[in-house]
Amino acid sequence: MESAAKSSSVKNVVVRVLLFGVFVLIVRFVYVVTVYGGPCNSGDFCLLPFPGEGLSVTSAGGGASAGSAAFVRVADGSTGATPALWTTREWRKAVDYYSAVFQDLLVDGFVSPTAKSLCVDTPTGHEVLALKEIGVLDAVGVAKKKAPPLVVAGGDLLHLPFRNGTFDFVFAGRSLDRSKRLAHLASEIVRTLKPDGFLAVLTASAGNAYSLHSLIDLFPSFWKLRFRKLDGPDSSSAIHEIVFQKQLDGDILAVDGKEAEDSSPSSSCSIPEHKLRLLESAEPLIKEEPLKPWIALKRNIKNIKYLPSMVDISFKPRYVYVDVGARSYGSSIGSWFRKQYPKQNHTFDIYAIEADPAFHDEYAAKKNVNLLPFAAWVRNETLAFEINHDPEQHDVEKEKGGRGMGRIRPVSRLSGGVSSGEVHSIHGFDFAKWLKRTVSESDFVVMKMDVEGTEFDLVPRLFETGAICLIDELFLECHYNRWQRCCPGERTPKYRKTYGECLKLFTSLRKSGVLVHQWW
Ligand SMILES: *[C@@H]1O[C@H](CO)[C@@H](O)[C@H](O)[C@H]1NC(C)=O
Ligand SMILES: *[C@@H]1O[C@H](CO)[C@@H](O)[C@H](O)[C@H]1NC(C)=O
Ligand SMILES: *[C@@H]1O[C@H](CO)[C@@H](O)[C@H](O)[C@H]1NC(C)=O
Repeated sequence: MESAAKSSSVKNVVVRVLLFGVFVLIVRFVYVVTVYGGPCNSGDFCLLPFPGEGLSVTSAGGGASAGSAAFVRVADGSTGATPALWTTREWRKAVDYYSAVFQDLLVDGFVSPTAKSLCVDTPTGHEVLALKEIGVLDAVGVAKKKAPPLVVAGGDLLHLPFRNGTFDFVFAGRSLDRSKRLAHLASEIVRTLKPDGFLAVLTASAGNAYSLHSLIDLFPSFWKLRFRKLDGPDSSSAIHEIVFQKQLDGDILAVDGKEAEDSSPSSSCSIPEHKLRLLESAEPLIKEEPLKPWIALKRNIKNIKYLPSMVDISFKPRYVYVDVGARSYGSSIGSWFRKQYPKQNHTFDIYAIEADPAFHDEYAAKKNVNLLPFAAWVRNETLAFEINHDPEQHDVEKEKGGRGMGRIRPVSRLSGGVSSGEVHSIHGFDFAKWLKRTVSESDFVVMKMDVEGTEFDLVPRLFETGAICLIDELFLECHYNRWQRCCPGERTPKYRKTYGECLKLFTSLRKSGVLVHQWW
């Protein structure tokens, strides 16, 4: 009896242990399914083997990959253990997103299973794994920091650790959206891609013609093959995919183009259609001469349609502001450009051109402003100008003792003339030539010009040299014999041009595709 009782209690213990074991297995299974989103993803534990789950690949829909790549191979060809990170739900979701993008590129022939491929700026390597999974095995990523085995270190991404012409396919992902050194990054992509190779870019910008053209301009020797809208990774936002192909002799073409441009002394430039279209949205010019210009022109600034408020200005290699006739720092750079001009978070290089020595000292303390202490002129020569003490001067200059620069003119033509103020001698430089040296056509260039009548010399020179096409947006004060506030019925004797001549200047600028605004 005793032994029977003993054996039944042993049985009891065994049954309990077995039940406990089953319970543990069930709990573990439920845990794995909820945490990893599938029963087979956690490597060391798999109750119900699902074919095609996890890291192995189904060839369904892919066509071209023919179901061959059923495992992950890293760059050196080994089939190492799967890092735990790769099995998280976020990883799968991100990799699946890129797999879908690459499947389409594969079907359309932009990437092939044998293509040597690079993913730029991929800190995690999602894109690289996605490429490998669809059968593009020779794929590698580059990011600031390395993340082996998928991603190698590329530091600032401005010196990619690959030889010229290494890759058949480069996936730039969103790297251009993130880069602060666009032109440099673009040239590295161009350099590492083989001639005839393909480049795919994803971007949240490029939704309008202006921004798309800016992007295309970053790759001048490439053909644009495809542009389409995709769902973003989080499916709440849309993004655009652009596919380019590097021309066979792209490098040579680009060099030739540049040389031809530089060697021609005067070049007429054509303003593209999408820029002309923008002008239709600009505020209208004031056709009638205002009777109270000191009110009307100041009020007009409220109507101004700034270019960055109309279009996305992404994808410019550089953002530049040129203040011609800058006067004191606060008069337009500090009070208007820094505070009011919409910059879409871009940092602008600022050039202040101001010949009057009275203003030079304060610029020495402004580290982010390049001062050119000369007068913008049509050639390199010594000029004379007068310092006016004019009652009509702006408030800011009033604080400076009513100081304002009079019209400048070559010294030779001044002799014998009657002058009312102090006459100074200054250096004038060829402004149009300087502009062509300083900025390129793909840069975003905003200019304010307030040069006391010299605009009637400078603007024609800008047209003659083709430098006008470098300017994206121009704020121009045109000086004419305006009605005076002090003395009703009297025009200022300071300027001889009429309002009609000013209007002609503005109209010709707009007709040529320059987004010019009437400045006060
Ligand atoms: C690589 O390309 C860059 C410009 O694309 C060029 O300056 C450089 O000389 C090339 N290097 C080699 C080794 O060909
Ligand atoms: C500028 O940056 C701020 C914060 O970084 C952001 O909230 C804002 O949307 C950005 N503006 C533009 C136009 O990108
Ligand atoms: C302009 O002329 C001055 C002397 O007349 C000369 O020293 C200077 O180098 C010239 N500058 C340019 C850009 O030609």
